[in-house]
Amino acid sequence: MRILITGGTGLIGRHLCKALLQADHEITVLSRHPESVKQKCGAAVHAFGSLDEWGSDAAFDAIINLAGEPIVDARWTEKRKELLWRSRVTLTEQVVQRINAQRHKPAVLLSGSAVGYYGDCGDAALDESAPTAADFGARLCAAWEQAALPAEALNVRVCLLRTGLVLDRSGGILGKMLLPFKLGLGARLGDGTQWMSWIHIDDYVAMVLVLLHHTHASGAFNMTAPEPVTNRAFTDKLARALHRPTLLIAPAAVMRMALSERAYLLLGGQKAIPIQMMALGYRFLHGKLEDALADLVG
Ligand SMILES: NC(=O)c1ccc[n+]([C@@H]2O[C@H](COP(=O)([O-])OP(=O)(O)OC[C@H]3O[C@@H](n4cnc5c(N)ncnc54)[C@H](OP(=O)(O)O)[C@@H]3O)[C@@H](O)[C@H]2O)c1
Repeated sequence: MRILITGGTGLIGRHLCKALLQADHEITVLSRHPESVKQKCGAAVHAFGSLDEWGSDAAFDAIINLAGEPIVDARWTEKRKELLWRSRVTLTEQVVQRINAQRHKPAVLLSGSAVGYYGDCGDAALDESAPTAADFGARLCAAWEQAALPAEALNVRVCLLRTGLVLDRSGGILGKMLLPFKLGLGARLGDGTQWMSWIHIDDYVAMVLVLLHHTHASGAFNMTAPEPVTNRAFTDKLARALHRPTLLIAPAAVMRMALSERAYLLLGGQKAIPIQMMALGYRFLHGKLEDALADLVG
């Protein structure tokens, strides 16, 4: 397959590129830094610096749309929110416009979203039919999904990747947590009852490959492991995997002060269940957090 990946230089994208190259696919990555694509994604990967380079001679069979400004890294000023929106929603609208203009349309668009789509839902188990919420993160995810869906009218199969916390030792949430935990400074966040819907990077990549090839797969998919855990359980299991204690608590009030609006991303959570992936018969490589952590940091 000829595949275009937006955000292909990111944490997930780089793993995807590796797996797709191994499976003999031809990859092009859209990046703001096209000169860095070969080094980050592999020497055989082509680069676009802009969607304008997607001419009629560059036909793609599949699009994987993952680009997006990092969510938690900086304070959510109005300017930052606009950047978070533009880098996901506007870019996705532009991708769909490009698809519309192509003679050879891709068969499938796998487009980003996150379990933040559901907002903070306490202990409720969330399959893909659960409703969205009104906070900024949820509205962003819903708009990101809505921007991709018009591709269906162009006869393109659309899968919405409601991504959970992707666990990889080289980055993402686990990459950020490793150093403090190794130093014995790992802390439970608030009362630790909030749910964390996690997924091992190897499962994420394998699930994307399934969605790419499964011609009947469409709609929303919780890209999460089947057994989400509370923050308290996650903290304990990570500390145990690293043979370190967890005696500390990051108080909710202090986190709210330090992070303002973003605090709810860490103090709230979702108990997402990947019903649609399971319905496709997907068998998880790391269905339990203990196994995933043993593989990643053990
Ligand atoms: N990792 C997770 O745990 C997780 C969880 C839920 C949802 N997601 C979502 O899944 C997607 C991929 O995740 P990831 O962890 O691989 O993300 P990542 O490592 O932050 O990479 C995202 C990529 O998006 C591109 N990008 C960043 N800011 C941009 C901007 N302002 N305009 C256009 N492109 C921009 C970058 O590519 P260039 O620098 O090459 O342009 C970057 O490599 C993201 O949209 C993320 O929000 C991830």
